[in-house]
Amino acid sequence: MDKHTVLVTGGAGFIGSHACVELLQAGFGVVVVDNLSNSKLESLKRVEQITGKALQFYQADIRDKAALNEIFAKESIATVIHFAGLKAVGESCQQPLNYYDNNVYGALVLLEAMTEANVKQLVFSSSATVYQPSATGQYSEGLPLGAINPYGRSKVMIEDILRDVSAVDAIKPTGTPWKIALLRYFNPIGAHESGMMGEDPNGIPNNLMPYVLQVAIGKLEQLSVFGNDYPTPDGTGIRDYIHVVDLVKGHIKAIETIESDTFKAGGCNAYNLGTGKGYSVLDIVNTFEKVTGRKVNYKFAPKRAGDLAESFANSELAAKELNWTADKNLDDMIVDAWNWQLKNPQGYVN
Ligand code: NAD
Ligand code: WQD
Repeated sequence: MDKHTVLVTGGAGFIGSHACVELLQAGFGVVVVDNLSNSKLESLKRVEQITGKALQFYQADIRDKAALNEIFAKESIATVIHFAGLKAVGESCQQPLNYYDNNVYGALVLLEAMTEANVKQLVFSSSATVYQPSATGQYSEGLPLGAINPYGRSKVMIEDILRDVSAVDAIKPTGTPWKIALLRYFNPIGAHESGMMGEDPNGIPNNLMPYVLQVAIGKLEQLSVFGNDYPTPDGTGIRDYIHVVDLVKGHIKAIETIESDTFKAGGCNAYNLGTGKGYSVLDIVNTFEKVTGRKVNYKFAPKRAGDLAESFANSELAAKELNWTADKNLDDMIVDAWNWQLKNPQGYVN
């Protein structure tokens, strides 16, 4: 018996597909809407193979209001997890309009469809990139927002829209109130422990972990380590890497939290999802070599524009209010990512 049904936008993507597994295993019904612009249907087939359960898939764009209306009319949705969107920082600087259209306009259309369907519980994929860079490297939810690229600004804009929308109910509740969790992810890596699901980037990866995997397996020749004179112990950039399965478990906790009677009507709360620990690029390379026995060929290269020296979460609020902490360590993240890469050297083929 399903607990209730969750609409997962962007459910065929890296994080969304892992969320579908956890939702189905936790007893939720799952409806996915995805336009497959950055994913393949195979990821959802794997979700069904892993869980032994079926989900409902709609291939549609979240900017297509009629399609969303139809989904809300057909399916009995209680809560939405909104992953759909574009996420490459560099590309967002080249194509800002495309990013604002997909991410900001897409969120508006989704919110309109939710309002019309009276579905007002939402968990939103935000990002650590919404924060104004801070000298300490540690980010708490109360710090000022101020993203430094169009992708990050699209996330800040959506957060602002969600705060405005929910504030109406916080002041004077009318009918069903909005209840929203903004989850600010740090650096999700890793893969499902089965090795059947993982991150499948298009073309040459932008992010560190998929790049390391492709160097280790021989698809790419050499990793460029961007910068070796940051004010960090080994001079390379430090990030808070989090296992994707821990991350998606945080979404289940967020659903439980916003659906509880104690969550304020019109509440729109932000939570960092990170481990609170930082690892440098060289820590990643060294740990990768230790746990896989493979060499990662690398060279030092100039800093990448817009990169921070250090970024890691203060994750106390999620522990306190969502009753969530990350369980898996860096070895687990790398073992699982490598298992996925070895079993699926070409990613999802279909
Ligand atoms: P992804 O690209 O693997 O997944 C996004 C999914 O959304 C894809 O399946 C894509 O086809 C779909 N999509 C994109 N635009 C759409 C549209 N207009 N209509 C319908 N579907 C659409 O990315 P991911 O890594 O799984 O990220 C999921 C979410 O988490 C994104 O919103 C991203 O910005 C956010 N996020 C990701 C990271 C990260 O490092 N991966 C970090 C912080 C936040
Ligand atoms: C990690 C570290 C790089 C590649 C990005 C987005 C952020 C969020 C997560 C969505 C940094 C270094 C990387 C390489 C390297 N996404 N690096 N060589 O930049 O922390 O975050 O993804 O919200 O918005 O900006 O992640 O994996 O690209 O980089 O040396 O080939 O690895 O300089 O120190 P980042 P990343």
